[in-house]
Amino acid sequence: MADEGPAFDTSVAHVARVYNYWLGGRDNFAADRKAGDEALQAFPQIVFSVRANRAFLARVVRVLAGKFGIRQFLDVGTGIPSASNTHEVAQSIAPQSRIVYADNDPIVLSHARVLLTSTPEGACDYVDADLRDTTTILDQAARTLDFSQPVAVMLIAVLHCIPDSDDPYGIVTRLLAGVPPGSFLALSHPGSDVGGEGHATMHRRVNPLMSVPTTLRRRTEVTRFFDGLELLEPGVVVAAQWRPDSEFEARTPAAVWGGVGRKA
Ligand SMILES: C[S@@+](CC[C@H](N)C(=O)[O-])C[C@H]1O[C@@H](n2cnc3c(N)ncnc32)[C@H](O)[C@@H]1O
Repeated sequence: MADEGPAFDTSVAHVARVYNYWLGGRDNFAADRKAGDEALQAFPQIVFSVRANRAFLARVVRVLAGKFGIRQFLDVGTGIPSASNTHEVAQSIAPQSRIVYADNDPIVLSHARVLLTSTPEGACDYVDADLRDTTTILDQAARTLDFSQPVAVMLIAVLHCIPDSDDPYGIVTRLLAGVPPGSFLALSHPGSDVGGEGHATMHRRVNPLMSVPTTLRRRTEVTRFFDGLELLEPGVVVAAQWRPDSEFEARTPAAVWGGVGRKA
């Protein structure tokens, strides 16, 4: 019998597909577009914000690979492949880079082959797992990553999918415990104290439409994820302002905090 692939629940909006809709992708369904449009009405800048988040991801990988010599990346909450996926950016700088992706959404899994187009010198792998299950993620990533060498743990726009009741800080601590000194944590997180009333209204209206409600956090709460790490300059800032390539880029309206820290 032919493999029919994973089943998707298309009747309710999923974060990966709504994000894909805002980015102009085609991997979304009516419920995702309805939630996406609801958001756009309240906060039209969401389109700039998600693009700024994506650009932040690419700059972080470039800085970590180019300036800090990082050759291993663990990207959890990967998303539906888009422009400048982590392995493409890292391997354009260092072809021997090794990347492991992890996500819990079957639609992302169905796109895994796009994420596994490694250079011959490097390696890519995909783990189908929930961010809360750090043991599975670390165990399966060890097929590809050498955990005696530094790893960049990338949690880009995913921790807002973990409510306080599921201990997001504990999750980050457990992941960081699995990587050696010299490793990095890079994260971005939609903020409750950025983007003004429009962003807050968007969140209030869209959350009931989502399969998994999201949690916005304040800058201080996002900064807490870096406790015990050495924060790289410029600290936790609006993602568009983290080492922007131009003044124009820095001014992109983004309702997302971003930062990078190093494990001493
Ligand atoms: C907003 S998208 C971000 C995608 C990508 N990191 C980026 O910033 O462009 C969030 C991604 O996290 C994934 N995700 C949400 N909750 C998750 C969880 N508990 N475990 C693993 N992945 C999760 C979603 O499936 C989605 O692909």
